[in-house]
Amino acid sequence: METATKRLMPGPRGHWLRGCLWRFQQEPLEFYRECHREYGDYVRIRMVPGVDVYLLTHPDAVEHILQKHHKNFRKPDFFPKTVGLLAGNGILTSSGDFWLRQRRLMQPAFHRQQLERLVPAMTEAATAFVGERLKSPTETFDILPEMMKLSLRIAGNTLFSTDISADADEVGQAFRTTFDYVSYRMNYSPWTPVWWPNQRNREFALAKRVLDRVVLKIIANRRASHDKPDDLLTLLLAAQDEDSGGGMTDQQLLDEVLTLLTAGHETVGASLAWVWSLLGEDHDIQENVYDEIHSVLRGRTPTLEDLPNLPLTRAVYDETIRLYPPAWGQPRQSIDEDELGGYTLPKKSFIVISQWITQRHEAFWPDPHAFQPERFLTPDPQRPKFAYFPFGGGPRICIGNTFALMEAPLVMATILQRFRIRRTTTEPIVPDPTFTLRPKFGVPVRLETR
Ligand code: HEM
Repeated sequence: METATKRLMPGPRGHWLRGCLWRFQQEPLEFYRECHREYGDYVRIRMVPGVDVYLLTHPDAVEHILQKHHKNFRKPDFFPKTVGLLAGNGILTSSGDFWLRQRRLMQPAFHRQQLERLVPAMTEAATAFVGERLKSPTETFDILPEMMKLSLRIAGNTLFSTDISADADEVGQAFRTTFDYVSYRMNYSPWTPVWWPNQRNREFALAKRVLDRVVLKIIANRRASHDKPDDLLTLLLAAQDEDSGGGMTDQQLLDEVLTLLTAGHETVGASLAWVWSLLGEDHDIQENVYDEIHSVLRGRTPTLEDLPNLPLTRAVYDETIRLYPPAWGQPRQSIDEDELGGYTLPKKSFIVISQWITQRHEAFWPDPHAFQPERFLTPDPQRPKFAYFPFGGGPRICIGNTFALMEAPLVMATILQRFRIRRTTTEPIVPDPTFTLRPKFGVPVRLETR
């Protein structure tokens, strides 16, 4: 009940029996946009009778939840229960002391100096894509699955020096089956028991067994061998806890490897598809990016040292993931009662902070829906830090953000040097909020050789 001291947030109540869930499930992105437009930055949505979801879109609220008061907000149980089916108890899904220990163990592997060694794997995969496309450059094709394949190839090679992107690859196939299953559960059926013997569940169980067996074998072989390839697995195997001096068990390594594959491949793949969608439409910006890349590289393969000299390339990527953030919403649950934006947030409230809404917020982004990479060349000093948070923030900020911000511009520079990318339809590309925000019907393009 609303009292003088407890001010509850406004928001839609929906149908008396069904609440707003049906509307949310129909069009999550549009529904959040409507809520924001009609009720503002602090919205209480009656999702189903008895369950409210708080959509908090002001940058101050995002900062409060992710950074300033992060201890009062945890990931809700459905998250480890769904994503954990694939990624086990890895750092994406775990919490508390266990998460902290694992994060500390893994963090050094993601330092820039370590990531530098992974650059050849990134550019080799991009060069292989170019080689493949040079065989049939004029053909119209959907670049979304190609970018997914490319990012999976980079993820496999940088993680454990194995290309798992080929259709026939056993571990790649098993990973795709399990990943699709988890995406499906998150979006459509989080509560069906996983032991229920339907076909989907059986296929998942089978694929997960294959995945575990193969990855555990890779781990065992590595432990037994003196070879230390330049990949993340080598670094994870070498990671030692400062206090106990102990490393990770095989099960922990398995969970972390699958976590990195899960969190690291589709996010980058989807974002690159959006890059081509936007550049494929805006030929002027594409030419400007090409000019920048060409003047720095003159046809050679990009290196890490080149990236600071490619500011427009980076700005295009930053702007792409502003407009089409791969992580379009982050769920949290409050632990104790809290105060936000002058409202009371009850304890145990379900919360969503949404990159999709905040990164297009009119108060912080002039012409918010327009593709204007130059905004990242001269950032507005007045803009609050958390008006832009594609990688989250606070202690649980994406561990792979530096990795992604190396990978994407390197891939862009490699591909743009050889091709002009042209969209072949004028239809708008529709975002689909699955596990990541991906173009719903793909991105049909044609390449012109330079
Ligand atoms: C454009 C690409 C990417 C985007 C937009 C992205 C976004 C995010 C976001 C928003 C989170 C925070 C989730 C939360 O707190 O609820 C996160 C966490 C995470 N990401 Fe990424 N990510 C990207 C690429 C990667 C890559 C390449 C890797 C690995 C190589 C990776 C690994 C992880 C992991 C392990 C976490 C969990 C961190 C923790 O909770 O300690 N991500 N990512």
